[in-house]
Amino acid sequence: MSITEIKASDLDPQAFIEDQCRSIAEQVGDAKAVNALSGGVDSSVTTLLAHRALGERLLTYFIDNGLMRQGEPEAVVKAMRDLGVPVTLVDARDEFFAALRGKSDPEDKRQAITDTFYKAVFGRLVRESGASSLLQGTIYTDVEETVAGIKRQHNILAQLGIDTEAAYGYKVIEPLIRLRKTGVRAVGRALGMPEAMYNRPPFPGPALAARVIGEVTPERIERVRAATAVVEQELAGVDAFQYLAILHEDRVTGMRDGRRDYGWQVEIRCWDSEDAVTAAPTRLPFDRLVTMAQRITSEVPGVVSVTYNITAKPPSTIEAV
Ligand code: XMP
Repeated sequence: MSITEIKASDLDPQAFIEDQCRSIAEQVGDAKAVNALSGGVDSSVTTLLAHRALGERLLTYFIDNGLMRQGEPEAVVKAMRDLGVPVTLVDARDEFFAALRGKSDPEDKRQAITDTFYKAVFGRLVRESGASSLLQGTIYTDVEETVAGIKRQHNILAQLGIDTEAAYGYKVIEPLIRLRKTGVRAVGRALGMPEAMYNRPPFPGPALAARVIGEVTPERIERVRAATAVVEQELAGVDAFQYLAILHEDRVTGMRDGRRDYGWQVEIRCWDSEDAVTAAPTRLPFDRLVTMAQRITSEVPGVVSVTYNITAKPPSTIEAV
């Protein structure tokens, strides 16, 4: 891997901000750039850096791919507008679900999301706006896992030999590619972001599709979305790196009201980690786990079993897909 990591201990956030703003301005020149905001820490930091560098020549889009958490598209757009950055919300839900239809293999699903995001949606937005480049918040860990063949992170292109100008018609600029999460958070803080934004638990680019085992359909996403809302409410304030709910593909025999109910299984994961490279399951209080199981089985239609992952990464990974 030819990119050199900047370790959090060696990072001077103010100097980094100045360097990156200069570099973004140079790369974009007099043109416009489009920016992919997902609401996660990485893309939010990229947005603020690029807004500082380009002002209104930066066109920021939030793509509603139908795979986000409850109320997330509106909340993300509002949070950025509150910081003075204009954001356009693009409804691409049907396009993503059409691309995912019939696909169960994790890497096929990731590929479908990558193609829809870069080729279909951003290809169109770049063409329509007359921009020449796309900014995105890829970080060092994303590159590392993809190059190692563990998971193809949806946002890795050049490191896989993809010439984005030939494939999609635009250049990709990745100001955070030498940082890991801790460094990104430090830059967010130095940019004056609210703490809730720079300390937000990570959320993957493929969004809830990374948490549905098997085919991704609107119904299955709705189920994992409802379970995610319960887990996030119950674990808010817990000292953990990331927590999530996963919808399994297999059904199991359960019972409800004295009758057989052949229903769905949800797995909860909660991780202690520094930088997502390795992680250990958080030792959550048992009562908290029981409360989540009771809520998920009563609030999420059709779920009859809730489990907690007690495996470390490796050999597990943080997301399921
Ligand atoms: P894994 O599941 O590989 O996740 O242990 C490591 C960290 O990366 C996040 N993640 C992703 N982020 N695009 C992203 O932007 C992706 O395709 C992706 N897959 C996983 C995950 O949430 C965790 O923080």
